[in-house]
Amino acid sequence: MAVRGTLVWLCSLTVLFSFASQEETEPPKCNSQDAYTSLSNDLRGVLECGDSALSQWSSQEKAAVLLSMKTLTDTLHKHQLDECRGAEPQKCPEPEVPENGGLACATVNDKRYCKPLCNYGYDFGFIRTSRLFEECSLETGYRWQTQYIGGNKLAVCNREQISSVSGARSAYFPENQDCLATKSNGTLQDSIIEVLKTELKSRGVQGEAQSACLVCG
Ligand SMILES: *[C@@H]1O[C@H](CO)[C@@H](O)[C@H](O)[C@H]1NC(C)=O
Repeated sequence: MAVRGTLVWLCSLTVLFSFASQEETEPPKCNSQDAYTSLSNDLRGVLECGDSALSQWSSQEKAAVLLSMKTLTDTLHKHQLDECRGAEPQKCPEPEVPENGGLACATVNDKRYCKPLCNYGYDFGFIRTSRLFEECSLETGYRWQTQYIGGNKLAVCNREQISSVSGARSAYFPENQDCLATKSNGTLQDSIIEVLKTELKSRGVQGEAQSACLVCG
């Protein structure tokens, strides 16, 4: 009887301790892989709960999460855009990244080339089927070649019923793989950049491509 009592007591103690140790796990440290892993797991979990679970959050909870997400989105978006900054030639202004699309860029022989891409379901404002990329170099006066007058806007991606007609085939992200979905997968991102390098070569731009990147608007 006494032994049994002790066992029960020990078990309860174990349960208590395991609860306590769960409570005490340290919050993920900032600037670490832990923060990313923990946030992305939590986000995946919440998204898997589905719409009806989310609808039960109070209006304050929803607003608070929206506010946090917006701050986080804005910050990450800025860092994401930085990935194409600082490339040679440095005299070139920074091209605008089209909303609902992206830019794939590379420098070859001190000339910067950027190729606008639109997400699936979007299309370019101007016909550019034979115009794959734009250039900025000494020859262009360190200004971006563009169909838009006097600026750093290389292209615009508009929502269209019939899309993927104004540009070359390779200038669209595939369905279900918009710019961010593509960029979140290293293999897919590399393939977009490889296509750009091939296109540059096939259009007579010879030389090693440097500072190649993909940014999403
Ligand atoms: C990345 O994309 C490729 C090609 O679609 C796919 O086979 C692979 O599973 C993806 N990787 C991840 C981590 O999602």
